[in-house]
Formats: sequence, structure tokens, C-alpha cells
Amino acid sequence: MPIRIAIDGPAGSGKGTVSRIIAKKLGIPYIETGALYRAVAYYLRQRGLIEGRELRASDREIERVLGEVSITQKYADGEARTYLNGEDVTDLIRSAEIGQLASVVSARRVVRDYLLELQRRLAENGGVIEGRDIGTVVLPDAEVKIFLTADLEERARRKASQLGIPYAEALKELRERDERDTNREVAPLRKAPDAILIDSTNMSVEEVVERIMDIARRRLEEKNRR
Ligand code: DC
Repeated sequence: MPIRIAIDGPAGSGKGTVSRIIAKKLGIPYIETGALYRAVAYYLRQRGLIEGRELRASDREIERVLGEVSITQKYADGEARTYLNGEDVTDLIRSAEIGQLASVVSARRVVRDYLLELQRRLAENGGVIEGRDIGTVVLPDAEVKIFLTADLEERARRKASQLGIPYAEALKELRERDERDTNREVAPLRKAPDAILIDSTNMSVEEVVERIMDIARRRLEEKNRR
């Protein structure tokens, strides 16, 4: 079984950036599960099931609408590209607004169930898998489990510069998402007991990458010895 590195953590913790670099270094795919939730939110809004920031639909209706759609992801040129009914929506779903809607729809069990098998399938051949519940729910037996975090203010600074939005707006968005993602009943954002905690507040990207690469190398050696 090729190595699976699960990286969970809140928005703005640097998961995406470090996951891309590690995937490249190890020559394994990068799987961005947040983009799958974003694609679902994008589609449910397009179909009129989201009003403002509320998902106004029964589980049955959501299930029916999701039954019409095909979502998938492919790793190409160092990037996870996400497809909705064959259309590449990767760039359309990056906004803070879709991030917020993804957080809303991801709290519904029916949405999480819908994406569970897809995530496991995408990780079948190994990879760096980034999300919120990879180490706890999606791949509890991943070879490496990391919980990456950083102070709220530092994460807001990163999001503001990444998305080109004001700091105060980024801070507000992150607070709302943290609250929702951490307190939902189904698969909340939580460190798996056996995940290694990395606080990247005062670390450079290179330092975080090196730390995770070290952990992965050690795990691989252990595995080969057995
Ligand atoms: O990582 P991201 O910012 O693209 O994620 C968008 C939202 O999707 C996030 O606020 C919560 C949800 N999400 C989730 O519930 N579980 C995951 N494994 C990944 C994302």
C-alpha cells in the first residue's frame, strides 16, 4: 500500500501549501477534499437549494440533487483539479464565499456520506490528503497523520493575502468557519488521538514541510522494517 499522509486542520493553517510541496517531493498525488465540499456547495447553490448562507432543503432533496451530479478530482501538474459534471470548476470555487458555503453544506450528514466513498477512492493509490476529518473518519488508518494549526490572527493574515481580501474580512470569515467546522455534530474538525500536532504560527513553509517529511520518512522506514 503506497503511503497516505493525512493533513487536517482549520482554514488558513497552510495545509494546501505544504500538501502540494510534499506531494511533489514524494511523487504522490495531492488530494484536496475541501474542494469537493466546495463543488457540492457551488452546485447546490446553482440549483437554488442555498439562500443567502442557508441550505434550505431536506436530506431527501439534497440526496436527489446530488444524484444528478458527478464530482471528481484529478491530480495534474502539481495541482488538484476538481470537476463537476465534467467541467473544471477548480478556479470557480476558490472564493471566500464558496468556502463559507462549503462549511455550511459540510455540516449535513447526507453531504458527508455522499463524499466519503469518493475521498477513499481518490486516496486508494496513496497521496497527501488534506481536509478536516481525514485522520479521524475518512482514513483513520493513514500511515501518517498530521494536525496542522496556527493562531487565528496568523491564519487570517495568510487568507487575506492569498485571496486579496481585507484582513478584517478574512478574520470574520475564519471565525465563523472555525466555529461551524469545530462544533458540528458530524465529523467535526478534531485532532485524531494519534495525529501529530504542528503549530505553524511561527514556522516557515519550508520548516513545516521538513517536519512532515521527517515524520513520513521515519514511518516509511518503520514500515519497511516490519
Ligand atoms: O479546506 P477548505 O477551506 O477548502 O474547506 C472548505 C470547507 O469544507 C471547510 O470550511 C469545511 C469543509 N470540509 C470538511 O468539512 N471536511 C473536509 N475534509 C474538508 C473540508
